[in-house]
Amino acid sequence: MDKLLITGGARLNGETAISGAKNAALPILCAALLTREPVTITNVPSLNDTRTLLKLLEEMGVKTQREGDTVRLDAGEITNPMASYELVKTMRASVLVLGPLVARCGQAQVSLPGGCGIGARPVDQHIKGLQAMGAEIRVEHGYMHATARRLKGARIFTDMVTVTGTENLMMAACLADGETIIENAAREPEVVDLANCLISMGAQISGAGTDKIRIRGVEALHGATHAVMPDRIETGTYLCAAAATGGDIRLTNTSAAYLDAVVDKLMDAGCDITIERDAIRLKGPARLNAVSIRTAPYPAFPTDMQAQFMAINCVANGTAVIRETIFENRFMHAVELQRLGADIKIDGNTAVVTGVQRLLGATVMATDLRASASLVIAGLAAEGETLVDRIYHLDRGYEKLETKLAALGANVRRVS
Ligand code: EPZ
Repeated sequence: MDKLLITGGARLNGETAISGAKNAALPILCAALLTREPVTITNVPSLNDTRTLLKLLEEMGVKTQREGDTVRLDAGEITNPMASYELVKTMRASVLVLGPLVARCGQAQVSLPGGCGIGARPVDQHIKGLQAMGAEIRVEHGYMHATARRLKGARIFTDMVTVTGTENLMMAACLADGETIIENAAREPEVVDLANCLISMGAQISGAGTDKIRIRGVEALHGATHAVMPDRIETGTYLCAAAATGGDIRLTNTSAAYLDAVVDKLMDAGCDITIERDAIRLKGPARLNAVSIRTAPYPAFPTDMQAQFMAINCVANGTAVIRETIFENRFMHAVELQRLGADIKIDGNTAVVTGVQRLLGATVMATDLRASASLVIAGLAAEGETLVDRIYHLDRGYEKLETKLAALGANVRRVS
């Protein structure tokens, strides 16, 4: 099992490029199931999660071909509309094949994703929305068995804002008979990127990016080429790494457009941020000011940046209050940060972080994707060596992590 050995203390300095967004690429690759014609997706990050999804699509009969960051998919023949537990349990986002399969094939067998470290992660809203469109879904032996002659447009209210729930229902509605309205829809930029890809395939969608999305079903979608948007969470993660080490970095192939809440908080923390058309530069102060955050659906502060901000607050001046309102168990990085000397008190979904003079390197264990990122950030700021174990979590969502960190002057190496 790979580990990451970090020698802390270096101020990050330099420039690196941001990859395509994992959480846009995953639904967009699934969208290829909606058409018999070939689809070309560019700027696809090379991650364990995208590799897993391509394997899953191939098991269904989709032909896939990857050249660099370009993926060509041909779902002319879907021979096996099924997503097995073996694959789904390694990547919950596999549930995103459910909507497209029911819409395209009239049937699907998709394993229930099951929970993960950060929470139970139910998919009841995905099921409820498809049933509203006329799908019959029975859950047995851990699988969702869905059938539908042809989905019908419906007006769907999701009980809470759900990103992949909105994406699944939006994809299914593209081929439904009539108009579907998704109320209380997720407004995340990745939802908009998916909508733009679907529109380029001939879908009739309006309102993506608002909490009310209208989809007028069509008979069929056609092939298209689409470039995945930059990864705003990867961008925010490297900005935090520079902030925590008083560094001065420039990130290219990215945009601050979708990171307002995060950029705002980094400025409050004392960082100097310059926004260019497709780049963002951050100069960290000698010592950060503590910043309190409260996670909520976009455009509020993203839950996927909460762990990284807990790390920077560990070495800031003052006390920060962190409220996690999206997932019920997303503080697992706190106990690992405490091993580095952090002063964190957890009370339910609230963490109180008091900055300490310095963190001291230690061996820590990654538990989920973004928790791992927060341990890397803390290790970069800590004195001495930090060994992060179980970094397969990181490899799910951060492309060429050590290469990019090394380009920014970090002293990091992968050890087995
Ligand atoms: C997406 O997960 C992202 N993953 C997550 O990123 C992200 O943290 C999350 O949205 C919130 O922004 C992908 O896009 C692949 P939700 P998703 O459905 O769609 C509850 C990362 O690190 N809920 O928006 O699974 C749910 O339990 C990952 O890249 C239901 O109760 O999240 C949670 O409390 C982690 N029933 C809340 O809603 C449902 O049917 C929001 O979940 C669906 C969701």
